Amino acid sequence: MKIKKPIIIGNWKLNGNKATIYNVLHSLIHFLKEKIIDNTIVIIPPSIYLDYTHQLIHNTKIFLGGQNIDINLQGAFTGDISLVMLKDVGVHYVLLGHSERRTYHQENNLLIAKKFKLVKDLCCIPILCIGENKEEKDHDQTKCILSKQLNIILDICGENAFDNAIIAYEPVWSIGTGNIPNPNYIQKIHEYIKQYIQIKTQKKDKILNISIIYGGSVNQHNIQNILQEKDVDGVLVGGGCLKYHTFSQIIQLASSIKKYNFN
Ligand code: 13P
Repeated sequence: MKIKKPIIIGNWKLNGNKATIYNVLHSLIHFLKEKIIDNTIVIIPPSIYLDYTHQLIHNTKIFLGGQNIDINLQGAFTGDISLVMLKDVGVHYVLLGHSERRTYHQENNLLIAKKFKLVKDLCCIPILCIGENKEEKDHDQTKCILSKQLNIILDICGENAFDNAIIAYEPVWSIGTGNIPNPNYIQKIHEYIKQYIQIKTQKKDKILNISIIYGGSVNQHNIQNILQEKDVDGVLVGGGCLKYHTFSQIIQLASSIKKYNFN
């Protein structure tokens, strides 16, 4: 499956019910039908609604993503959900390492890397979230944190780890706060991530294919400034994807950015 930029991903987190999902998707599908939009759009609902969402978006331009997976594929693991099950209900993308999973479920870099490998081995596309928290930023540790989060993936999955994968740079201090970094800052960090992987893997040509998107307080007012930056390949949206009007505006504005016409 080819990833087409600008990548627009909506993470519904722990929000929504059948009625709201139906309303948002019904309008969104109608909106997309009328537009010549050819980029990758992914919706990531709570797992209980994956099957329902899949039924609604089947045969449309929207792809389905999962918010998390267990490290096991099957067995006596009460309460967990496996990647095989996600695939069974139409999932192509899997979010991994979101800061909310790292914070509230103590997911560490090693566990995330193992899940990343599983997702790649079973031919789905991982969306790896990385990012520093406020304290780390204030202590100038951002690059160190990011390189640790990336290193373990490269160690476990090898130098092709990020081929056909998405990295989402989500500064924790920006998630749900309305505090958005300056677009120059986002560009610098994305450039750093690219160069870091390039140096680690010594695969210059391959790295040009890497997809790095930004997440944290993205909305219809800031999307264009963020996407204008050279190394920003898309966005991961939280609050801004829960309402049809906001999310459709984000998609519309993203598709009008000229630089992506050359991808
Ligand atoms: P917000 O867009 O609500 O800041 O959330 C970002 C996020 O965590 C997406 O995964």
